Amino acid sequence: MLPAEVMSFLAVGPGMRVVDGTLGGGGHTRLLAEAVGPEGLVVAIDRDPEAIDRGAREMAGLPVRFAQANYCDLPEVLDALAIESVDAVLLDVGFSSDQLADDSRGFSFTSDGPLDLRFDTTEGEPAWRLVNRMKPESLADIIYEYGEERYSRRIARRIAAVREREPIRSASDFARLVASAIPRQSSPSRIHPATRTFQALRIAVNQELKSLRIALERIPTRLVSGGRCAVISFHSLEDRLVKDAFRNRQLWECLTRAPIEASPGEVARNSRSRSAKLRAARRVS
Ligand SMILES: C[S@@+](CC[C@H](N)C(=O)[O-])C[C@H]1O[C@@H](n2cnc3c(N)ncnc32)[C@H](O)[C@@H]1O
Repeated sequence: MLPAEVMSFLAVGPGMRVVDGTLGGGGHTRLLAEAVGPEGLVVAIDRDPEAIDRGAREMAGLPVRFAQANYCDLPEVLDALAIESVDAVLLDVGFSSDQLADDSRGFSFTSDGPLDLRFDTTEGEPAWRLVNRMKPESLADIIYEYGEERYSRRIARRIAAVREREPIRSASDFARLVASAIPRQSSPSRIHPATRTFQALRIAVNQELKSLRIALERIPTRLVSGGRCAVISFHSLEDRLVKDAFRNRQLWECLTRAPIEASPGEVARNSRSRSAKLRAARRVS
């Protein structure tokens, strides 16, 4: 997403060391690897073991080292590679197209696989378990806070009623359940009525805001003076964290007064880019 803008803000050149904290399908990692060249290095991190395996297979021969980790553990990842500091860090948070396309992960509303929604399927609690066990009031709070969904209480009540009959399991059944709890005319036609609820559960099971908050505190400790950081987020709560972190003038010179958004051309090619917001900053000494 926003590849030209990311590369321009990160100002990566030959021989540099950079971290891509969210490898995903590897689009940005490849661009970064080309820019740093054989004398440089890209450290590509992802929580998803499948993303790491695929990246390692497909990018063999490029100057990239892969680490299956949370990007908030960036200092530990760099320690393991004996790297003290880097010239740039990129975070492109959220889920990837590969995760969306994988029926077994439950990211898609049409998936008959389990409503899992974890980035790292080897740890933590899948979303289907969470929706079957939580009190309706707590579910409503999550859906309201992380999904900014005004019908959170109605949705939570419907979840509680449905799971009484049979535990909730598949993503597609869950999407239908959510849609049936929302008044028809209330949802703008271009987004699925379950979009906000899926987003809320994904943020909850992956503790996404916590990871981002910790990462924003720790990144400056490993960036060289003048080093750049760029973050692409998709959610107002994430964007606020980034905006607030880059406001700290003792650490950062903010390079984006307002967040950069995808061009109409990019949105036409990739509809998910319509809510992407890019902010970038330079580490001050
Ligand atoms: C939007 S995709 C990245 C796409 C990538 N920039 C590209 O060009 O293909 C987000 C990726 O970040 C990963 N991710 C999300 N939160 C993470 C975290 N806290 N630590 C590490 N990886 C994370 C997800 O598993 C997913 O693969």
